[in-house]
Amino acid sequence: MPNLNENYLKLQENYLFSEIAHRVAAYTKQHPEKNVIRLGIGDVTRPLCQCAGEALLEGAKEMMSADTFKGYGPEQGYEDTRKAIVDYYKRSGVEINASAVFVSDGAKSDTGNITDLFAHDNVILIPTPVYPVYVDSNVMCGNKVEYIEGNADNDFLPMPDWDQHADIIYICSPNNPTGACYNKSQLKEWVDYARKNQAVILFDAAYEAFVSDPELPRSIYAVEGAKQCAIEFCSLSKTAGFTGTRCGYTIVPQELVFTASTGEEMSLNAMWNRRQCTKYNGTSYIVQKAAAAVFSEEGIRQCQENLEYYRENARVITDTLSDLGIRFYGGVHSPYVWFECPKDMDSWTFFDYLLHEIQVVGTPGAGFGENGKRYFRLTSFGTYENTVEAMKRFRNLLETNKKQKVRVLLIGKVFFLKKT
Ligand code: MLT
Repeated sequence: MPNLNENYLKLQENYLFSEIAHRVAAYTKQHPEKNVIRLGIGDVTRPLCQCAGEALLEGAKEMMSADTFKGYGPEQGYEDTRKAIVDYYKRSGVEINASAVFVSDGAKSDTGNITDLFAHDNVILIPTPVYPVYVDSNVMCGNKVEYIEGNADNDFLPMPDWDQHADIIYICSPNNPTGACYNKSQLKEWVDYARKNQAVILFDAAYEAFVSDPELPRSIYAVEGAKQCAIEFCSLSKTAGFTGTRCGYTIVPQELVFTASTGEEMSLNAMWNRRQCTKYNGTSYIVQKAAAAVFSEEGIRQCQENLEYYRENARVITDTLSDLGIRFYGGVHSPYVWFECPKDMDSWTFFDYLLHEIQVVGTPGAGFGENGKRYFRLTSFGTYENTVEAMKRFRNLLETNKKQKVRVLLIGKVFFLKKT
């Protein structure tokens, strides 16, 4: 009998979004007549833009002809795709070397797989709340994690504690789930802190395309010194609607060189290359062809039209929360809106309440860590019609509750006055 990786015993039974899917499936089985609106997982609803779709079809045609057919591609990605990514960065003023770019099937896999490059005795800082993949993948390989607190007091943008040592730091900006986005001087402080500690920042930029303020950094490499301390992960899932098409990329700068215990120099770029060549056979040609088209100027313009659609949905959500007097975060440089659960509920109770009362699915903040336990996330990736309908139901539910509460209070007061 094999000895198993018992670190899996330390995980929750289900991954967050699988748990949500289970609960929703159980509900719909019992209530097949109900129209359930899903604003939980951040899955897109707009189709691929014209540029990407046409490139996919063209790529498929090439694969159907002996002259242009392609077998195994380079594990790091095709030259054209890597160059298109480099050009995309260049247009926002950030210089990246093509040899630092590794095309993959998405940021989720890469943020999980990156643990392969590090030993298991590092001090790893992970914010709470944050995308659950970071914690789960470290737990799976037996790593110990320390949490950095995001909360209402720091607007969910925790800053370094200079008295604390770290070796690896996870940052997600714009943040999933809170939508909070670091400005340049805040990111600079993280970069300075990482360099002082000789630490590596694992920077998840999956939502960078949502940043509409030119003053806010969309890449950590917009900050001086970041190439000496940061790996950046990015994805086309949200930028270009590739949740089903699958493509992402990771930037591992050549500057990331550390000294091993043997005294030898180890390059993270060379290590990641070695890892990918061994365990990954490259992203499919047709998908990379579509990705290159996405990063053309016209491709990005078309993708931004889709993002504008989601921004309008986010406005529908935030307007409703504002009218109801519910404090929220995000929804501006992010597709996610994050808010405190009303009525003092914890987030799973609120999840069940919304599902059962109004058939709206969101994501309980507890799934993103301890500091999310009293918060809830709604995504703007639904259709406009569903978002409007969900917010109509949400408003009715919470307004009715408010009125009932006032009535109970008034009745209580009259009863008290009569008695005295
Ligand atoms: C989310 O809803 O947080 C994301 O869709 C998850 C992911 O990108 O894997």
